[in-house]
Parts: sequence; structure tokens; C-alpha cells
Amino acid sequence: MKFSLIARLAASAAALAFTTCMARAQDAGPILVYNAQHVTLTQEWVTGFTKETGIKVTLRNGGDMELGNQIVQEGANSPADVFLTENSPGISLVNRAGLLSPLPADTLGLVPETYRPSDGHWIGIAARTTAFAYNKTMLKPEDLPKSMLDLADAKWKGRWGASPSGADFQAIVSALVELKGEAVAGAWLKSLKTNAVAFNGNTAALKGVNAGQIAGAIIFNYYWFGDQAKTAENSKNVALHFFRNQDPGAFISISGAGVLATSKKQAQAQAFVKYIAGKAGQDILRTGTSFEYAVGVGAASNPSLPPLAELQGPKVDPAKLNSKTVTDLMIAAGLL
Ligand SMILES: [Fe+2]
Repeated sequence: MKFSLIARLAASAAALAFTTCMARAQDAGPILVYNAQHVTLTQEWVTGFTKETGIKVTLRNGGDMELGNQIVQEGANSPADVFLTENSPGISLVNRAGLLSPLPADTLGLVPETYRPSDGHWIGIAARTTAFAYNKTMLKPEDLPKSMLDLADAKWKGRWGASPSGADFQAIVSALVELKGEAVAGAWLKSLKTNAVAFNGNTAALKGVNAGQIAGAIIFNYYWFGDQAKTAENSKNVALHFFRNQDPGAFISISGAGVLATSKKQAQAQAFVKYIAGKAGQDILRTGTSFEYAVGVGAASNPSLPPLAELQGPKVDPAKLNSKTVTDLMIAAGLL
């Protein structure tokens, strides 16, 4: 009897403490998220999170490297609480500068080890895969390159394209460096300078393929799926070729989320990252129109996507992807 009274008192004290804590979390004002993921997707996560917790979120949108470099420059004075990226190199840059808080085990446990760096300072929240988008009237399946590296061959001169200035393409190059070394990557980039048409953005490259300006382009999967789900006006003549076979062109790129060590709203920031990696956040990838892959343990992706496990992506530790080497090699090749 006495025990149950004590237990009840303890439970109500805990409930009160929790309520007070949540009230304080809401009072503390919105958390500031530096967001390099697609704004529509992040906005869906924010809406779900605020509805569930009452914690408001302000977004500052930009590119992976733009915001990553900004956080490094701001250092201890950064107003950012959370950093979300499209790909891994931008968040790795911030992590290498020692600016991310470790994530707790219950958050890390939401995502398999393949989709997060080994040091536990950030976590994968979505994945995208590399593909060769090709014009179906210009190329037959037997004409398709077996490997992304085959595009260095002179027979592809003027016939393929990419968006070398974008974070997506640079993530693919970072994987190439990690898998084949700087010499191979550097030579491939030089051939790209000679052979490929440079576009400003993956959508522009997809349009170029659809219009027959080029026969194919290296892009991420979701640009094609997103266009198909709308009017297909930029992709009706286009199909996707997946290189598979652990090819560098089968690279699966991980979007990351991390909490800034300097954030004064650690609890709220950690809650946001946990929400995205958890069931509700991953469900948004399955049901929405981002066409990015879910990465959570047991989480299903949008059923219109080919299963991630069938794409035979190469094994790459996202923590090792280095943006500085990529930029240096691309400058040396005359691409930036
Ligand atoms: Fe993208």
C-alpha cells in the first residue's frame, strides 16, 4: 500500500517534470535548422515534428557546401542548432571540424550502420542513388555504358552530361575518390571536361537528355521519378540505367542530420533528428513525392522505386567522403 503511494507520487512528479521540461522546450523559441536537403521534404518533416512535439523550427536554406562552410566559419558563434544535408561530404566537413554533438544510442539505433558514419556524430536520414538517365531513341540497352568510368571513352565525346557544380555530382565524385583513388578520379574528371556537357543542375541535365541535346546524363534517381510523377514533360523520352555491380556509378548517397555542439537547445535539436530518423520521419519518405529512399531500420521506401538492396551499390563509409579533395581535383580538371 505504502509502496504504491510512493510509486504514484514518484510517477506524478516525473510527469510534472516532463510537462515542465516540454513547456520549457516550447518556450525556448524555435530551433534553427541549416537545411541543405530539398526544402519541400524538410518542410514535411518540420510540419510533422512540430505537430508531435509543439517545438517550432526555423529553416535557413542553402547548399551542402555553402552551409557546411558557413557553420565552420561561424564556429562557436554559429546560431544553427541542427544541420541537414543532401549528401554526406557537407556534414562530414562540419564533423571533421569537431562541431557536432554525439547522438544518443537510441537515435543511432534507428538507422543501420551502413547508413551512418562509424563515429556516431551524425546519422543518415535518407538515401539517393546514382543513375545514368538516357534518351531511349538515341541509345539502345546494348549501347549503355557498363561502368560510369566508361564515359571517359572518346566515343562518348559530346554525348553525355552532368551538373559538376552541384553537391549531388560532387558526392558521386567523392565516392569515386574513396573507391578508386585520386589518380583514377582525377583522370576521369579530365575526360569529363573533354567529353561531357556541363549543366547547371540535375533538372537541366535531365531536360537536355529528354530533348536529345545529349544521349545521357549522370544524375540522382529522384529527378526522373519526380518528373514522371508530375507531367513527365522533362523525362518522357528518358529511362534510367543503374550500373549496379558495386560500380562507382552505383553509389548510394546518404543525406545526413547532426546536432551542433554549440546549440543551446540540445534537447529540442536532438528530438528533431530523432524524429526524422524514426518511424514518422521515414514514413514521409515512403508516402511523399521526394522519391528518396528511407534508411530507417525496417522502414519501407516509396514502392515505385527499385529496391535499394537490388542496386548493388559499392560499400563506402560516408564519414570518409572528403569534399576538399573533390574540389581540388575538379579545379585541376578545369571543371570549377
Ligand atoms: Fe538533389
